Amino acid sequence: MGLIERYRARLPVADGARIITLGEGSTPLIQLQNLAVANARNVSLYVKYEGLNPTGSFKDRGMTMAITRAVNAGSQAVLCASTGNTSAAAAAYAARAGIACYVLIPDGKVAMGKLAQAMIHGAVVLQIQGNFDDGMKLVKQIAATEPITLVNSVNPYRLQGQKTAAFEIIDALGAAPDFHCLPVGNAGNISAYWIGYSEYAGQTTGACNLCDGQCAYLRQAVTDKRPRMLGYQAAGAAPFLRGEPVAEPETVASAIRIGQPQSWELAWAASRESGGWFDEFSDTDILATQALLANREGIFCEPASAVSVAGALRDIEAGKIPAHSSVVCTLTGHGLKDPDIAMRQSAAPVTKVAANPDEVKRVIFAEC
Ligand code: F0G
Repeated sequence: MGLIERYRARLPVADGARIITLGEGSTPLIQLQNLAVANARNVSLYVKYEGLNPTGSFKDRGMTMAITRAVNAGSQAVLCASTGNTSAAAAAYAARAGIACYVLIPDGKVAMGKLAQAMIHGAVVLQIQGNFDDGMKLVKQIAATEPITLVNSVNPYRLQGQKTAAFEIIDALGAAPDFHCLPVGNAGNISAYWIGYSEYAGQTTGACNLCDGQCAYLRQAVTDKRPRMLGYQAAGAAPFLRGEPVAEPETVASAIRIGQPQSWELAWAASRESGGWFDEFSDTDILATQALLANREGIFCEPASAVSVAGALRDIEAGKIPAHSSVVCTLTGHGLKDPDIAMRQSAAPVTKVAANPDEVKRVIFAEC
């Protein structure tokens, strides 16, 4: 069941609309078991593993809504700028809908798996000589005058789809967690979670960009609690820490290599209203956390996703997240999106061995 079907009563989808879905959502919420920092403080630490969506990232939640809306409004083509995952999702859902898809990606900075997805789904891929922020400017200009639907997260239907991840977490845990940790790039996702958590708590929020938080989807409260929203960035691309746009963002976590987030005000509203904070992490910390999750928990996420867990662990250790708290971190994208980085930071070399049992045993027992 896709998320529109699951949460239809809380989503702006017209009766009789043709639904474009690939069965997104309902991703696992996995409790981490082996991280000493969390265990020592009795913190219940969960990851929402969004890499298990159909195209391998959380973008599918927004894209089922944005493409459904576009198709039902008669659009024949969609457009986005992307660091990779949005373009993969847009390309897949546009293919499903039978409409055209155009994506602008930054020159040479998109992980191989994401580019492969956009290409195999038949999107027209334009690699611009510029970064994501330059791409955003271009697609906004073009969509303002041409008959083509912009499906970046400035499209409010994207955030409406993405808010369902917060519903799923409360539905799974029976209550909101105390803290929710997210990587922040263009800042749509932190805003969307806050909309979802607020809606389930029957509260309005300045983070809603569809109808100023006054919409009919504010139903009877399901819970009385909202989490504190913690947004984490890569140090080379941390406009929320600088308090202003960053002109030349740089980080190994290419998904969040963004200097001018489009949901700037909405994300500040989420942080402020929830009593949360922003923090930043070096590329070294980000990669170490990606490897830690893979090695110790068997969970493979892309580098940008790992920043949420890096943040949780640092703040648990520092006591900013108190002992006995419940914490959910969103792992936004699957590690297979960026195999090059995973290979580069894997400790174990691949050993070549002759295809006979004595040789294989010799190598195995030498390594023990
Ligand atoms: N994690 C991953 C894996 C992402 O792809 C993105 C954004 C984020 C985190 C940040 O989310 O932008 O809502 O704050 N990727 C966009 C893209 C920009 O084009 O795929 P955000």
